Amino acid sequence: MKNGRVTSLLYCRSALPGRERWDVANLRGKPFLAQQLESELHCRMGIIEVKANAMTGRILLVFDQQVLNNTAELLREVIDHFVARIDEKLLEARHADPKNRQDFEHQDNESILDLIRSVEHSSTLRWKATGLTSLSTIFSLTPPITLGLIMATAVSGGLPFLSGLGLSQLGQIGLLSGVFVGANMANTFSEYHAKMAWQQYASTIEHELRVKAYSHVQHLDMAYLDHESSGQILSVIHDDSVKIREFLGQLPDSVIDRLTTFVLGGLFLIYISPVSFLLSLVPLPVMMFIYRRYHKQIAKRYMEQGEKQQAMRKLLSNNLSGMPTIKGFSREDYEQQRLMDSSSELQHSTTAAFADAMRYADITKFAMVAGLGLPIIYAGSLMIMGKISVTVFMLQSFIMPKMIGAMGGLDHDYDLYQSSTAASKRLSQILSVQPKIRNGAQHIDLASVHGDLRFEEISFSYPGANELFENFHLHIPARSSVALVGTTGSGKSTLTRLLLRFYEINGGRVLLDEMDICDLDFNDLRQVIGLVSQDVFLFHGTIYENIHYGRLDATMEEVMAAAKMAEALHFIEALPDGFDTIVGERGQMLSGGQRQRISIARVILKNPPILILDEATSSVDNETEAAIQHSISLLAKDRSTIVIAHRLSTVRHLDQLYLIDHGQVIEAGTHEQLLEMDKTYAALWKLQMGERPEAQGLPTLASVHP
Ligand SMILES: Nc1ncnc2c1ncn2[C@@H]1O[C@H](COP(=O)(O)OP(=O)(O)O)[C@@H](O)[C@H]1O
Ligand SMILES: [Mg+2]
Repeated sequence: MKNGRVTSLLYCRSALPGRERWDVANLRGKPFLAQQLESELHCRMGIIEVKANAMTGRILLVFDQQVLNNTAELLREVIDHFVARIDEKLLEARHADPKNRQDFEHQDNESILDLIRSVEHSSTLRWKATGLTSLSTIFSLTPPITLGLIMATAVSGGLPFLSGLGLSQLGQIGLLSGVFVGANMANTFSEYHAKMAWQQYASTIEHELRVKAYSHVQHLDMAYLDHESSGQILSVIHDDSVKIREFLGQLPDSVIDRLTTFVLGGLFLIYISPVSFLLSLVPLPVMMFIYRRYHKQIAKRYMEQGEKQQAMRKLLSNNLSGMPTIKGFSREDYEQQRLMDSSSELQHSTTAAFADAMRYADITKFAMVAGLGLPIIYAGSLMIMGKISVTVFMLQSFIMPKMIGAMGGLDHDYDLYQSSTAASKRLSQILSVQPKIRNGAQHIDLASVHGDLRFEEISFSYPGANELFENFHLHIPARSSVALVGTTGSGKSTLTRLLLRFYEINGGRVLLDEMDICDLDFNDLRQVIGLVSQDVFLFHGTIYENIHYGRLDATMEEVMAAAKMAEALHFIEALPDGFDTIVGERGQMLSGGQRQRISIARVILKNPPILILDEATSSVDNETEAAIQHSISLLAKDRSTIVIAHRLSTVRHLDQLYLIDHGQVIEAGTHEQLLEMDKTYAALWKLQMGERPEAQGLPTLASVHP
């Protein structure tokens, strides 16, 4: 096969016997498609290894030439299957939208009110706010009526019922002005308290929702969280609770105010002139027609704007966390351009949405004002003909705009309701995802744990991936120290995650002291196991806080002792701020080896009966590693210890070594026994020993495996 051969969808970049790299059109930026292609190709005859990369848009194939002689045809067939026959959009939507994923059940038929009610502990505040809003509306109707009466008094020389009380024209105007000022003040006062009460209610609900959503997400399965971007979950927990607050802070107050104004204003109008009331309703159907005509368009614009906003947010958060890579590859200009493109798209869609909304508001206003002309002309003609008094005419002219104006804003409220409904749907959706991994009921006493571990006929696959373990066995006797070695990707770290029940096995059992871990309480199980993970995570805070996290009731002396055992005390004390040094986000202000030592100290402080070190010293120098080994061997004496390591010299002294490959233990024994066997382990050992001790990138199983 020649390099550079072109087919319709494929371009062969490089080809060595049994190893080819292909560019695949349309693969870039489609991780779900890459995953699908990878698992499909994996199952094909002759394929030994396959890597599909959505970042580069390339596929690497390692295959058996005897079995497979036309890779292009195979690739084309598989790609055809996924790209041409399956609707790509559907694939992506299934990936992006948890709603469509089959593996996690949830329901989203809960309404926004159900969601709010689910976190409302008391309705007192809601009723108080409702009462205050109604009161403030009543006060807000008084000023236009008194103003109408003042005008009528001025024009007609006095109102009969006030003149009957013996008040002069000026006295009447004075009295009415007093009522006008008083009502305005009462309105302002009650409106202030009503808005405060709604805000208080809204922020209480926001707080409850946020806490509930976070607490729920914390208990979801790792398999679910793996598939969700943390940015998206953050946006639901934070932004969507804010949207619910905005909804509650504005909408009920506004709707109650509008409806009360309409009903009371309407009743008043019916009382003084039913015909004027009916005429004043003429603009309503026109306004509804305009609403229906524009509403969809505006909703679409806001939806587009929301999408652009999300894209922008994703790009920003991705770039901010990848800053070292951006700088390292001098991609600042490239990223600047990408940000500018994304930002200007957002700018345009924001302007477009605003322009549409403004146009709609203006047309509605015009229809409303134009519609008002009719009842005013009617009332005016009646007044001229002497059929109604100036007072009645004035009252109508002041009440009608208020009443119709109240109805005019309902559409805006409805839009707010709709956008909040979207937020509430997303929240309800996350809240309704149920963890598949159920907590066990059995409690265990930490002090009585022996630490005997047994993997029995385990089968396991990550969701949507090929089987990683099939009928896997492993026994780790209590208080023994074992090593797991094997190629990258052979499943060593996965075994530790299964032990912690981060994922559920498909078949078989994992036993701790002969108890099925599925029956055990999560907290108890995780209390028993101390994991120094391959990907060290430190929280933004001080070194002290990060170590102390291992056991929250530990004293400073204990924290220091743990740091000493982890060979971390020396470098910590050499820092200007010592234990109070801020480690930065994810611990980025420390070196890889320093981070590892802090995470070892954190687990030493936890002092669990089972200790797992997953490539825990991969980034420290040989001398420090030897010192840590010494500490760990002291620790390991009275507990079960699992060490995962690439450098075989670090595990050679352990009780038992297991070589794992393709989901199976292929060799087991002590270091000496394995050397005697003279198979893969022995070959690997010789290869590693052949290197200078300080050499970087020591050979691994992959390089010697037959
Ligand atoms: N969270 C995950 N979701 C899906 N696949 C995963 C996940 N973590 C690891 N894998 C896959 O499982 C396999 C084993 O991974 P891992 O246990 O980390 O290997 P090791 O620790 O031996 O290097 C790899 O092929 C990896 O791609
Ligand atoms: Mg690993």
